[in-house]
Amino acid sequence: MAATSPLPAGPGAELVYRHCSGCHALTTVLAAKGSDAAGWERILHSMEGYGLPLEPEERQRLLAYLTQRLSPEPQRGVAAGPAAPTGADLYARHCAGCHDGGKDAPPLAGRSDLKAHPAYVAQAVLFGVAGELMVNGRRYRGAMEPLPYLDGEAVARIVQFLTSADFDARAAAAERGRGWTPSLVRLFRPLP
Ligand code: HEC
Ligand code: HEC
Repeated sequence: MAATSPLPAGPGAELVYRHCSGCHALTTVLAAKGSDAAGWERILHSMEGYGLPLEPEERQRLLAYLTQRLSPEPQRGVAAGPAAPTGADLYARHCAGCHDGGKDAPPLAGRSDLKAHPAYVAQAVLFGVAGELMVNGRRYRGAMEPLPYLDGEAVARIVQFLTSADFDARAAAAERGRGWTPSLVRLFRPLP
């Protein structure tokens, strides 16, 4: 590796060197420094569109690195104790395993049609969703179990990450109060 490595050190930096310097220089990546988690997610999504193949596990680590080291306020050192996980962290931990690259679950990150429907995304997490779904021209006939162990704050952060909407723990609690079933969530799915 070059003596003056241009990337901040941290777990995942090696993945940027490996995957992000084939088509353009690393300076193209560094020029996007200051993007937030949603911004980096969009960038990864378009790089995949250009033909970058990423394993789900590598994709998560890349996103975590970019978000933590090349964001508006890079988190240097860990002396301040564990920082609250961001929406991107929570998404990577609780959703990406099924939703990024899985066969039965549709993609979620970077979906523009979800942006206007934060309540629906929260409902899917709180109650699950079951029934046929069309996403990007593909048919999904699975079912998602609810994830009841996520508290309102975690649900809100994940919803914010996926939709960029102003959605907080109170809004998540209001959705939880509906007490719906997976098929009811599907019935009221607001997407085309
Ligand atoms: C398969 C080729 C390819 C790979 C691999 C690739 N990129 Fe790109 N990238 C492009 C193309 C094409 C563009 C648009 C043209 C340009 O700006 O050079 C681009 C532009 C960019 C931009 C500037 C434009 C924007 O969307 O903001 C950033 C930032 C970026 N890439 C980041 C990355 C990162 C991070 C990686 C590694 C995870 C990566 N790229 C890997 C092809 C690639
Ligand atoms: C164990 C696998 C699994 C996990 C974990 C999971 N999902 Fe799902 N999810 C699915 C499946 C499968 C579907 C498709 C259900 C269907 O076909 O009706 C789905 C559907 C959805 C939908 C509906 C998409 C649409 O286009 O209508 C949303 C929103 C969603 N999930 C959000 C999430 C979020 C957010 C998380 C993390 C907090 C998550 N899911 C975690 C499997 C999972």
